[in-house]
Amino acid sequence: MKLIIATIKPFKLEEVREALTEIGVRGMMVTEIKGFGSQSGHTEIYRGAEYAVNFVPKIKLEIVVSAAMADQVIEAITATARTGKIGDGKIFVLDVEQAVRVRTGETNADAI
Ligand SMILES: Nc1ncnc2c1ncn2[C@@H]1O[C@H](COP(=O)(O)OP(=O)(O)OP(=O)(O)O)[C@@H](O)[C@H]1O
Ligand SMILES: [Mg+2]
Repeated sequence: MKLIIATIKPFKLEEVREALTEIGVRGMMVTEIKGFGSQSGHTEIYRGAEYAVNFVPKIKLEIVVSAAMADQVIEAITATARTGKIGDGKIFVLDVEQAVRVRTGETNADAI
């Protein structure tokens, strides 16, 4: 299993969620965060205005999927979250050792 951590522009959340649902992603965590990338927040446009502070609002997605699905998820996020302007986000991929569904005790592939 892989954990895919992606930051995206907030207005892209619904489109990305729909694309991920279409390829069979059944669960994800969504968090409102602030962050910065290579521009340190200075020159990024948010809601039509240049953001004057160091941190820019983003949405962080955390998605655990089978390793076989990871590339598809990355492609779906990249295709839907891209505007071509700075600040489109980042995707990080980590190995996941174990998953458990609390209600049933099912593990790993059966838990996600
Ligand atoms: N090295 C990093 N480690 C952790 N989080 C990061 C890192 N770089 C960027 N982020 C997160 O990703 C968000 C989006 O970054 P951003 O898209 O601006 O990256 P970038 O490298 O500056 O690319 P771009 O040139 O398109 O702006 C940041 O707000 C931050 O939350
Ligand atoms: Mg940036």
